[in-house]
Formats: sequence, structure tokens, C-alpha cells
Amino acid sequence: MTLTANWSYPTAIKFGAGRIAELPAACAQAGIKRPLLVTDKGLAGLPVTAQTLDILDAAGLGRAMFSEVDPNPNEINLAAGVAAYKAGKHDGVIAFGGGSGLDLGKMVAFMAGQIRPLWDFEDIGDWWTRADADAIAPIIAVPTTAGTGSEVGRASVITNSETHAKKIIFHPKVLPTVVICDPELTVGMPKFITAGTGLDAFAHCVEAFSSPHYHPMSQGIALEGMRLMIEYLPRAYVDGNDIEARAQMMSAAAMGATAFQKGLGAIHAMSHPVGAYFNTHHGTTNAVCMPAVLDLNADAIRDRFDRAAGYLGLKGGFDGFRAFVQEFNDSLGIPRKLSDLGVTAEAIPDLVRDALTDPSCGGNPVPLTRNNLTALFEAAL
Ligand SMILES: [Fe+2]
Repeated sequence: MTLTANWSYPTAIKFGAGRIAELPAACAQAGIKRPLLVTDKGLAGLPVTAQTLDILDAAGLGRAMFSEVDPNPNEINLAAGVAAYKAGKHDGVIAFGGGSGLDLGKMVAFMAGQIRPLWDFEDIGDWWTRADADAIAPIIAVPTTAGTGSEVGRASVITNSETHAKKIIFHPKVLPTVVICDPELTVGMPKFITAGTGLDAFAHCVEAFSSPHYHPMSQGIALEGMRLMIEYLPRAYVDGNDIEARAQMMSAAAMGATAFQKGLGAIHAMSHPVGAYFNTHHGTTNAVCMPAVLDLNADAIRDRFDRAAGYLGLKGGFDGFRAFVQEFNDSLGIPRKLSDLGVTAEAIPDLVRDALTDPSCGGNPVPLTRNNLTALFEAAL
């Protein structure tokens, strides 16, 4: 089996090792002649970024880059990115990186032509229709981690720097026109990022699979995504140069974000405020929260995990899956408690309040309340 293919679901994806070389062709496909590459501060100085800028430069597309992007990007980063985009007279964005570079890059392309303020486009009801769709610049997404799956998503998460709340900004045209998934770009990821980002993708699949909403395509994608991660995340963690494992994880990450059109749940509802208040790593936080959330949801999801466990190579149905999750976390160096990430008991009332209004709540199979969320945070702490 060769790990190279062209896909159009959910968008055009050029998948395979070495395919970053096709970035100039992707720019032509998206109609971009003056791209602005948007990435985060950490990635800006790394060889993969220099190599990518060299590819653009050699094709006569320049080497413009904006990288004033924090790990949890906020509206201040966005305003600076839009200013850089306008000053450089760019006509499209290459969103490059993990979640922060991808999310902020997508938002630079979105906001470059809008008149209304960013928060008017939060993912509430039909607020996205307030946007001028014709003014949204084309986006090429290039993930350098295997986790967020933002490269196949129609939304970005932006933190409000004043309230610390993480807001989801949604528009159908924020879905990148072209995605380049090149697993060689993920080879340099340190172990704890491989684990944390991989377990974010795992949480996307577990929560999508658990969500009660009707979406059989997403259900199937979530199941196969879990299987790939159970098989290949340990390999990618042990040997970062294992290109087959890196490729399968990159697929699984895109599958997780495709699947969660079906919904997320309590893991993400908890993880978003924890990340906003304590600046914790998103995927690592999800992994710490997952065992307690599986316990809360057990009765509602037992049947479907009883069916899935055999396919996932696990004995014992739901209970076997629940036990496996703790072993999986332990084998990947994930702490057992939120307190290990610096979360304090005093913060629980604020975390519960923000979790209750998080859009992820709606996909949890057990309705979330002040009481059960407080108990979840206490259990995870
Ligand atoms: Fe996530």
C-alpha cells in the first residue's frame, strides 16, 4: 500500500511525504500570487519553515511571513496579522503550523476584508451570515503537527485577551481551498508534542463517536481514526522518524476534525477554559480529562463502545476501552491529574461557569450541568 493520494473530502488534500514541494502549484490552484505565510513564533525559526519559504521564493512567490502568533492566539495577534497582510498587498494566506498557526492564518484571510469586528462572527446561530463571503481571501493549509485537524475545519479558536474566553469563529469559506499534508514536516516534533497533539486528535474521534447526533459518515471516520491512533501514535512517539507512523497520524488528525462535525463533548468543554486560564497544552489537557468524562458518559456510550472495542483490538468492550485509555495516557507520559498541569481547586467555579457556555457542551451524550461538571473537575483534579 502506498501512502500517497489525492482526496476531495472534505476539501482538496495533497497527501504524502515530500509533497510540500507542490506548494507553488497549490498557490496557482487557489489563485494566489502574493501569499503571506502565517505561523507561530516557535515555528518561525525552524528549518521546516525556512525550507517552505525557500520553495515559495524559488517559484517567484516571495517569502513573506507573519509569525507574531501566541500559543493560544488572540484578537491582538489577529489585528497585527491583518495589518501585515494589507501592508504587503497579499492575495491569500498559507496557514502553516499546529493549531495556533493554522487557526490564526485562517482568520487573517477571513478578516482581511471584513468591516464588522471579529466577535460578531462567533459560532452562534447564523452569525456567520453577517460576513461578506466575497471578501474572504483564499487559504492554503499546511499542518506541521498531527492533532488539531484545523486544516480541514471551517472554524478557528481565538482567545479573547480580556476575558480569557476561547471563542469559535465559524464560516464555511474558512475551509482551506487546498491542504498539503506532508508527514515529513512533523518529524521534528518533540515527544511531548507528538503525544499531546496526537491525543487531541484521539479526543476528537472519541467525542465525535460518543456524540448522540446523527451523522453516520462521521461515526465511521471517528472509529477508523481511533484505530489508526491506537496503532500508530505509540510508534510515532517512540521513533519520530517513523514516516509511516507519522503519515497515519496525520491522516488520523484530519479524520478527527472531519468527524467532529458530529459534535464534541465534555472533554473539550473542560479543556477550553482550563487552557484559557492556565495556558495548558490543549491536547494534553484533553487527555487528562478523558477518563473522568468516559466515567460520566459510561451508561450512554457503553453499547457503541462494546461494538467498537473488538475492531479497535481491545478486549472487554466499553470497560476494556476505559482501562485502555488510562494505560495509553500513561505510556505517552501524560500526567494523571489536572493539578499536575497547575490547575487549582479554587478555580473550579470559574471553570464550570465557562465550560457550561462552551459550544462543545451540546455534543456530550449526558447533558452537562453545574453539578456534574463540578464533579468532573473534582475527579480530574
Ligand atoms: Fe481539540
